[in-house]
Amino acid sequence: MGFPATVADDLSHATHDPLAPVFAQYPLEVLRGEGVWLISRDGRRVLDLYGGHAVASLGYGHPAWSKAVADQARNMNFQSNAVPMDVRLRAARKLIAFSRLPVKSVFFVNSGAEANENALKMAFTLNPGRTEVVALEHSFHGRTAGAGALTWGAAKKWYGFPRTPFDVKFISRKDAAALAQITDKTAAVVVEPIQGVGGAFDLGADYLKALRKRCDETGAVLIFDEVQCGFGRCGEPFAANLYGVLPDMITTAKALGNGFPCSALLMMEKAANAVKMDALGTTFGAGPMASAAIEATIDAIESENLLANVRRVSEYIRKTCIVGPVTGHQGAGFLTGLICKVPASGLQKALLTEHNILTGTSGDANVLRLLPPFTLKEAEVDLLAAALQRLG
Ligand SMILES: Cc1ncc(COP(=O)(O)O)c(C=O)c1O
Repeated sequence: MGFPATVADDLSHATHDPLAPVFAQYPLEVLRGEGVWLISRDGRRVLDLYGGHAVASLGYGHPAWSKAVADQARNMNFQSNAVPMDVRLRAARKLIAFSRLPVKSVFFVNSGAEANENALKMAFTLNPGRTEVVALEHSFHGRTAGAGALTWGAAKKWYGFPRTPFDVKFISRKDAAALAQITDKTAAVVVEPIQGVGGAFDLGADYLKALRKRCDETGAVLIFDEVQCGFGRCGEPFAANLYGVLPDMITTAKALGNGFPCSALLMMEKAANAVKMDALGTTFGAGPMASAAIEATIDAIESENLLANVRRVSEYIRKTCIVGPVTGHQGAGFLTGLICKVPASGLQKALLTEHNILTGTSGDANVLRLLPPFTLKEAEVDLLAAALQRLG
């Protein structure tokens, strides 16, 4: 028996899905997008309030972003980090300026989980000898060995590795008294200031300030995982700005490249001072196309005043969409959780199939999660409010 002569031969005998079947599929095949709209193969125009898991910050077909990525692809698609390139330096400088935080250094990688792995490595570098990391109940930090170890419930569901690379302690996200479990054995505390998968659940300024204080008392490194809630989604550059709490490191991804895979580890002074030559590394991180995508995304957010748009339109969502099956809201900015009196999964299905509106669910069965592009306008929110009224 040899290999099949052609791909067609191979497919005709296929016993497996060519794409590993690990993702449940929406009943929606997307051909293209325009702004906040998806156009499906069967000709439907679907309002996208989910943005591909919080990624499409500028929506679809953004002219300046598309041009920047295409121009970079033509001029120089790739050189490694060993080759100095102006575009990658510009991306780092612009991200630091965009943050309005005392960020001293940026390390670009490719995914949220990878940014978290590198943050953890830096935390253990800063705290040699400590072996424990504290995370919060209902957290999500990614699928890799370190990030998955800090993801609530992963050990029972999908973690897969025989052991975690460090000791892990999960503490309550509601009870500030639980912060006493952070001790001088704790190398790092990793938190999403606004939990995404956990249901667009905002920890709030008081909890985060108490957390900062406890980390200062014990010497634990504080890492904000802003992979989902950061980079403008909460209406400020980062949730650190929103809540006035400065962590030692921030990780961010998703919205950062508007769909071009990229992520970043933002280091404040203490962490930046501990970075040694060769301690971190990546092939694709900070590649010229990723850098061009990041630069174009920041330029668009600033020139189109999109943070103000997120603040204004998210307020409008909170004012107009607590109708029908929705009884309340949580989260911040365009990481909004609509609290429902019915299961969110049923509501999500009805919105998509009956009203052509794509939304998300979350780890909380009664929270419908909205993660729209930062360009969403009030008129589009009116369509959601009307659909919810009818489903009530
Ligand atoms: C808060 C948070 N951290 C980390 C991740 C992992 O990011 P990635 O899938 O890019 O590895 C996610 C993904 O949903 C996330 O929401």
